Amino acid sequence: MRIIETIAEMQSLSGAARDAGEIVVFVPTMGYLHEGHASLLREGRKRGDLLVLSIFVNPTQFGAGEDFDSYPRDLERDRQLAADAGADIIFTPRASEMYPAGFQTYVDVERLTLPLCGRSRPGHFRGVTTVVCKLINIVMPHAALFGKKDYQQLAVIRRMVNDLNMNVEIVGMPIVREADGLAMSSRNAYLSTEERRSALCLIRAISAARDAFRNGERSVAALRDRVLKIVSAEPFASIDYTEFCHKDTLEGVARADDTTLLALAVKIGKTRLIDNTILGEE
Ligand code: PAJ
Repeated sequence: MRIIETIAEMQSLSGAARDAGEIVVFVPTMGYLHEGHASLLREGRKRGDLLVLSIFVNPTQFGAGEDFDSYPRDLERDRQLAADAGADIIFTPRASEMYPAGFQTYVDVERLTLPLCGRSRPGHFRGVTTVVCKLINIVMPHAALFGKKDYQQLAVIRRMVNDLNMNVEIVGMPIVREADGLAMSSRNAYLSTEERRSALCLIRAISAARDAFRNGERSVAALRDRVLKIVSAEPFASIDYTEFCHKDTLEGVARADDTTLLALAVKIGKTRLIDNTILGEE
């Protein structure tokens, strides 16, 4: 496994692989890797010849007062996990090369970025789409893998790739959870022991909504009530949003059906966690 830090070197390696007829597969991350990232890498390993992992804590997707400075970083640990999961290259560009003086071009997906995380994190998705577009131009992959844990991010990236005719297949991967149901996230590292226990309210709320839906409840008001009751009973938890929306358009719905996405953002202490489910899916 090689570690590459410059854009020119990454581009020329990928270009050479493509010229040699190899399939290039890409997993973009911000590092502090866990099993969720590893599942993307293992699937990527199966799909291609050259598996590229990027680790870049992207400053443009963090808002003022968010956790850019404290975001966990540990390249040594990441290197081991990446090697075990079969990565060929770790691409870790410097922010000064990704965003040099004079940088002024951004990718902006419109309606899909307005609700959910877009509402509470203005500018966040503009940073995500801009960096993912840049990384795809640098790595030039045939396919790129993203987790459904960040459901809106995946939807927004699919939209960008379609709208801008980018020649890359976007693959969505299932949410990987801890044994007790907490969705894996680099930010789980922020949680104290008590907060870690509190964080289970996300999966408990999601499970309760799924159970009610399976038992025939279709009123979003009633489903939301169940979610709010569970989360508001938790000492460290405060709701950012609980949305029921169409899984493709992300527009809010009043009646739930098999296409309804339940998306949740909850602050546990200072840590903002997200989770989601499509009510009609197994
Ligand atoms: P990061 O949070 O590091 O996540 C990298 C990829 O791993 C994303 O596609 C994310 O959805 C996926 N992932 C994270 N936790 C997961 C889990 N529990 N199960 C399945 N997949 C999971 O998302 C980003 O970085 C950044 O926004 C990025 C796309 C790299 C752009 O900067």
